[in-house]
Amino acid sequence: MPAYSPGFRSLDTEHDGLALDVDGEIPAWLSGSLVRNGPGRFEVGGERVEHWFDGLAMLHKFRFEEGGGKVCYSNRFLRTEAYREAVEEGRLTSQFATSGSYLDQLRSFLDDPTDNANVNVDRVGGEYVALTETPRRVRFDPTDLSARGDQTYADDMTVHHVTAHLRHDDRRGETVGYATQFGRTNKYHVYRVLDDSTANGARPSRVPVASLEVERPAYLHSFGLTRRYAVIVEPPFVVNPMRFLLPGSGGFIDKFRWKPERGTRFLVFDRETGDLTAERTAPPFFFFHTVNAFEDDETGEIVVDLVAYEDAAIVRDLFMASVEGDREDSAADAGPVLDAATGELARFRVPVEDSGRGADGGRVERRNLYTGMELPRIAPRARMEPYRYAYGQATARKGQNGLAKVNVETGEATEWWADGCYAGEPIFVPKPASEEDDEDSVAPEDRERPEDRGVVLAPVLDTETEESLLVVLDGETFEELARAHVPHHIPFGFHGEFFAEITT
Ligand SMILES: [Fe+2]
Repeated sequence: MPAYSPGFRSLDTEHDGLALDVDGEIPAWLSGSLVRNGPGRFEVGGERVEHWFDGLAMLHKFRFEEGGGKVCYSNRFLRTEAYREAVEEGRLTSQFATSGSYLDQLRSFLDDPTDNANVNVDRVGGEYVALTETPRRVRFDPTDLSARGDQTYADDMTVHHVTAHLRHDDRRGETVGYATQFGRTNKYHVYRVLDDSTANGARPSRVPVASLEVERPAYLHSFGLTRRYAVIVEPPFVVNPMRFLLPGSGGFIDKFRWKPERGTRFLVFDRETGDLTAERTAPPFFFFHTVNAFEDDETGEIVVDLVAYEDAAIVRDLFMASVEGDREDSAADAGPVLDAATGELARFRVPVEDSGRGADGGRVERRNLYTGMELPRIAPRARMEPYRYAYGQATARKGQNGLAKVNVETGEATEWWADGCYAGEPIFVPKPASEEDDEDSVAPEDRERPEDRGVVLAPVLDTETEESLLVVLDGETFEELARAHVPHHIPFGFHGEFFAEITT
């Protein structure tokens, strides 16, 4: 068993506002709640789920009280239909890689996708929602984390696979997402939800921005958004959708195949007109997470930063059998899966218009910035802008996962590590401008882009004590300011968000 195996152990305990013991000092200005999502239970009816992505959703909340430097912890299973079926009937609905019966698979795929929303949380149309990659979003109460049923839409867009990573554009007042429709024809859809469309309790409406027909849809997890463009990055991990209808073993993801000869495509859609402005192909790579994207006006290129893998083996590696160290394949020699993660923070420059550079005018340029990263984040103000810092989980060492702050302009990195500790997604929380005590002490260049003036919050599993922590790092120095002790382990989760307005 790898040392990190408590990260894949179910958690039964639920808390409501438990005050945590804190070492160090949490900044007095920090106020609001970090809400995180991830699997809380891995067994159903005596059987273990097949894949890390398939555990039953549990929400975790760390609430900081302004002035007190205190943190209170709550956690609760997201009580969905999938949860009820699992707990009461011992039945697991068909998910990412956990298949169920053939009938289950068909049902799940065609008209009753799972509501086990364990991937991310967000605020859409004034409602807090838990998200996964089926079209179902589950509303939750930000105070007690109770599930409040599905968020429904006012439109009738037919989609089957969606992103759990929406992008917010505050300047335009909209949230952008994409979805894949499988069927006689397969399509990628980019859509927007206008933030004010949900005033007075109206249901959100997905307004189509662009659509593209594709013969072999790819597995997509996140995308890039710039002021002008939505960029779908399409790795050659693709499916013949007929496979979904044929009996066979495995879940959704098992139907996809790695076709490196296709390369990885960058599909650049104009957010205003919906036109496919550019389509560029790069040598093949796989990825889950884009970091940021923006337009470089000087070169006419779009810059897309993401965490790239050589191929889609990482999907196979995150099956429960693999993470638990029971792998039989050749990669097993590399040691426990989480100790051999190879994500590369890479910058892609995608020419949008013919740059006049001859035959190479349409070539996508790749530059690696940092080796060994996942779960990347940026400061909210850096979205869609030339920026400086990416924060992420650092994965290059054996026996631990750290945290990294990478200067994407220089490649220079500052890291945080602790022996036997596995850190998760770091979330940057900006210090409110009103809290700046002495503006004059801030260097002029930082005054323009204070992307690190604040704190970084990350969950950490201490494999020694088999308990979890929430660490608070100083955004600028990346030094640990405080750690709050959770009295048990928290299974490894995926994503979260800091909501300054959740104060109860
Ligand atoms: Fe993700």
